[in-house]
Amino acid sequence: MPLVSQHYFRIAVIFLIIGICFGLYMSISTDHRFTGAHAHLNLVGWVTSALFGIYFALNPSKATGQLVRAQFWIFVVGVVIMTLALALLLAGNAAMVPFVAGGSMITFVGVLLFSYIVWRN
Ligand code: HEM
Ligand code: HEM
Repeated sequence: MPLVSQHYFRIAVIFLIIGICFGLYMSISTDHRFTGAHAHLNLVGWVTSALFGIYFALNPSKATGQLVRAQFWIFVVGVVIMTLALALLLAGNAAMVPFVAGGSMITFVGVLLFSYIVWRN
């Protein structure tokens, strides 16, 4: 398996564990405020990272180079900032809005870079 796929799966399971912890907390406490952070940690953090990892494993010729490394780090940093800031925002810290927006835009840049890697020959 290419290194970037291993990295994506390693980070994806960390997102999954943290995402499920939010889910368990919400279920046990019946405090469902964190649904947004939970949903995006699981779907953007776990599912999307794992899909990126699978894509690179199926296309090893596309899995190396500086652009691939940059795509990985931009996406992961974006997801961390977006979901962490969203969790703090949902906990009541209104000052987190610009960080949620910034993290979301960084995540989107990671998605655009991935799309470019998929389309280029
Ligand atoms: C043990 C594991 C999990 C627990 C205990 C759990 C628990 C919860 C809870 C309590 C909610 C809030 C429901 C509501 O307020 O309506 C929720 C929502 C959600 N969960 Fe989980 N969850 C788990 C795993 C997952 C996983 C693995 C995923 C995705 C891969 C996921 C995706 C979602 C989504 C997308 C929502 C939002 C649904 C909506 O907007 O109606 N969950 N979960
Ligand atoms: C930068 C990327 C993204 C941004 C900025 C974003 C933003 C949002 C926003 C503003 C909501 C509404 C939340 C609410 O009404 O409380 C939402 C809900 C949702 N999004 Fe996203 N989203 C992104 C990516 C994704 C992706 C990639 C997926 C799936 C793979 C996804 C799945 C969902 C789901 C299932 C919900 C409903 C659950 C909830 O209420 O939180 N999102 N998203």
